[in-house]
Amino acid sequence: MIDLFSSPEVGTYIGGAQPREQLDRAMPSTPGQREGFFVVELGGAMIGMVTFDRRDAQHPGHVRPDADEAQLGYMFLPHAWGCGYATEACAAAMRWFASVLPGEPVVLCAQTANDPSLRVAAKLGFTEVERFEEYGAEQWFGVRSPTTPRTT
Ligand SMILES: CC(C)(COP(=O)(O)OP(=O)(O)OC[C@H]1O[C@@H](n2cnc3c(N)ncnc32)[C@H](O)[C@@H]1OP(=O)(O)O)[C@@H](O)C(=O)NCCC(=O)NCCS
Repeated sequence: MIDLFSSPEVGTYIGGAQPREQLDRAMPSTPGQREGFFVVELGGAMIGMVTFDRRDAQHPGHVRPDADEAQLGYMFLPHAWGCGYATEACAAAMRWFASVLPGEPVVLCAQTANDPSLRVAAKLGFTEVERFEEYGAEQWFGVRSPTTPRTT
């Protein structure tokens, strides 16, 4: 987790890297757990994570009048990029989501400059809803509604 959050490459389109010492201090010694938070493992080592969080009404980009949509997030360590792991892990997480909250759409927000992330989104079957400016960059906001066919 510390490698992930302190990596400048990982942070390129998501607000940058966090200082390692700060993460060292903040990271609990015992890993916690919550529903909708997945750690991805390859050969016994952690390579990334997939998360579902609720999208706050204060942000632009919504598909429900009351906001609070389930939003997919993903981050992988650079040595594991380009092998299809993010797509595979997110597809499995989306299947889990559909089984626990059937009928609920899932939204996703990424910088339009983040080509790898937009490729993952397209492969998972997300379609564009709108684009807007936030955090000083153009953002792509998409949805995968329960009826959208998967292209993977
Ligand atoms: C986004 C991320 C998770 C993708 O991980 P990954 O394991 O490489 O994803 P996959 O291998 O499943 O798919 C990557 C796709 O992007 C493409 N890609 C990779 N680098 C690219 C680039 N520079 N330009 C365009 N496409 C690129 C790959 O070819 C692949 O598409 P394809 O299967 O159609 O060929 C990874 O880059 C990452 O962790 N980035 C940092 C964190 C981040 O930005 N998360 C997303 C926040 S919205």
